[in-house]
Amino acid sequence: MILLVNSGGEAAVPEWQAEFRAVAPHLDVRWWQDPAVDLAEVAYVFVWSPTPGWLARLTGLRLILSSGAGVDHITSDPDWPRHVGIVRMGGAETAQRMGEWVCLAALALLRDLPAAIAGQAARRWVEMPSGRTAPETRVGVMGLGNLGTAAAVMLRGLGFRVSGWSRTPKRLAGVECFAGVGERDAFLAGADILVCLLPDTAETRGAVRAETLALLPPGAGVVNAGRGGHVVLADLLAALDAGRLCGAVLDVFEAEPLPGDAAVWGHPRVIVTPHVASMASRRARAGYVAEAIGAFERGEVPANFYEPLRGY
Ligand code: NDP
Ligand code: OXD
Repeated sequence: MILLVNSGGEAAVPEWQAEFRAVAPHLDVRWWQDPAVDLAEVAYVFVWSPTPGWLARLTGLRLILSSGAGVDHITSDPDWPRHVGIVRMGGAETAQRMGEWVCLAALALLRDLPAAIAGQAARRWVEMPSGRTAPETRVGVMGLGNLGTAAAVMLRGLGFRVSGWSRTPKRLAGVECFAGVGERDAFLAGADILVCLLPDTAETRGAVRAETLALLPPGAGVVNAGRGGHVVLADLLAALDAGRLCGAVLDVFEAEPLPGDAAVWGHPRVIVTPHVASMASRRARAGYVAEAIGAFERGEVPANFYEPLRGY
């Protein structure tokens, strides 16, 4: 069974081959542009942002394994083969890493790290007020899926007061859960720090915009590790400039890599990270993919199977 890999560049292929040999020796793992491969023989692909039109050429394709938890990098191809299922990246390590990044971002806003970073750049010893503690701070997590749930649990562990918002109702120990459009405004009103971990869908695009930012408590902070399209950047920067928000930590952007002339790079109240919030090791991702293919070959529906009607 041929598995084509398009994740991490061609230099990563020997490592992928070694990792897959250990967990799924029946897979013949090749670089996606290997000229020796007959495309009609390809059963599986493991991809990040495949070239539009390429997946449609794989006539024997059985399953698409997304190298990321989001699948917008696949479904944005107008020709992606809709009769082939997609499995989203998941697993414990992906969730652990995202939880760590969200805690880092929440603590950075809690302790006003943007001010300390600006002070260091200017070689200025900045006196900073102590501010609130975690138990005095409410963090609202938009999206209580694999990653949002892990982040909520880890934030609780740091002592934050945590709430979450999802499409369908949830129960999570120690986390106040809100669901649906009807409960969205109440959720936003109680978020001193708003964390976005939504998938990219028609319903979620622009979820963090002027109208929703206005519902946050004065001085709130915003954290985005979902997708760039969730945050209307101009609205966020306007709210920061007006002093209505205290800061933002952003990992994802509409255009990636973020262009060098983007205003957000130099904003003193914003910390930018380059889409690195959660990337599991190759070993963990190969193990996850091997399990998904194993389930698929047994006739089961693999975990985190993309549902086109929901859009995630
Ligand atoms: P999941 O599919 O497990 O969870 C998605 C969550 O969003 C669910 O709780 C879902 O609700 C909720 N949701 C979806 N649509 C709506 C809506 N219209 N209103 C309210 N809630 C909604 O995804 P993951 O947790 O695995 O990943 C989330 C996203 O994180 C990915 O799609 C990707 O964009 C991003 N990501 C970013 C990374 C980075 O490094 N920056 C790394 C990995 C992922 P319900 O529970 O009811 O279904
Ligand atoms: C993503 C990922 O979907 O990096 O952003 O997993």
